[in-house]
Amino acid sequence: MHANTLSPRVSPHPEELIWMDGEFLPLAQARVSIEDRGLLFADGIYEVIAAFDGVPHLLVEHLDRWDRSAEGMRIQPRYGRDTRVDVIHELLKRFSAPRVSVYGQLTRGAARRAHTFPAAPRPMEFWFARELQPYQPVLFSEGVKVITRPDERWLNCWIKSISLAPNCFARQDAAEQGAFEAIFHREDGVVTEGAATNFFVVKDGVIRTHPVTKRILSGCTREFVLQVARQHGLAIREEAFDLTFMRNVDEAFITSTTINVMPVTRIDDAPVADGKVGPVVQKLMALTDAAVRQLREDSLAALR
Ligand SMILES: Cc1ncc(COP(=O)(O)O)c(C=O)c1O
Repeated sequence: MHANTLSPRVSPHPEELIWMDGEFLPLAQARVSIEDRGLLFADGIYEVIAAFDGVPHLLVEHLDRWDRSAEGMRIQPRYGRDTRVDVIHELLKRFSAPRVSVYGQLTRGAARRAHTFPAAPRPMEFWFARELQPYQPVLFSEGVKVITRPDERWLNCWIKSISLAPNCFARQDAAEQGAFEAIFHREDGVVTEGAATNFFVVKDGVIRTHPVTKRILSGCTREFVLQVARQHGLAIREEAFDLTFMRNVDEAFITSTTINVMPVTRIDDAPVADGKVGPVVQKLMALTDAAVRQLREDSLAALR
């Protein structure tokens, strides 16, 4: 697969706006201190929320995770959830595209450089929106290739930390090999998740994925897709599996905010089963798409 097919889906927008510490301003005018701890220590957290037709998808779930991540990092935001919700809606109102991704980041803020936390931290928070361009349909109809990589991250992957060097290395390796994603495995061979996705396999009709522990990020899409699967009677096992198991599965897929469900039909140099998108993944993609549409329609109806 050519790397261009896999390139980022976000595109610049002439009226890009950012909300930063209480005010909206053009993105290009936003400035952070050279001593911001996000810049010096990757001391911060982030969220990415998708919005379809102006409706943020799984907003509560993303903001709940924001709160958990902030607490995990021991950062006390200066703004509350109500402000955050207003900001996200305002950004979406001012940004009229059918598919938008909203990015938010919170850091411990600027302070004289020292590893220990500042005595009186002034956390920095910003949110901006970008157009989310759809992935090429061929990725969903034929599935994508993933590669496997040692999981070299820290042990608190449940925090959506901006410290993403191992994720960036793994994604770069994937891109250089014409793959869409890198799937992490621990030293004992246990498969955890993707660099920016959660990873699932299907074996004998049972969907399997790593359980929610500190070793993975509990994806909002992961939870949503499992809920949809459960509602439709699909068998699920949230149990760890290793590389050997993974190489003998019938189907595989990844989930995230920007892709929902994407089939995986190649892992490293081998096809998954016959290399075609299997029936369980096909069903799950259709059910998830329908559930996303339904949620959006319900939200729009509630606003009318
Ligand atoms: C490491 C990791 N796992 C999983 C996910 C998927 O999470 P979500 O479905 O909330 O986008 C992400 C998303 O960025 C991620 O970075």
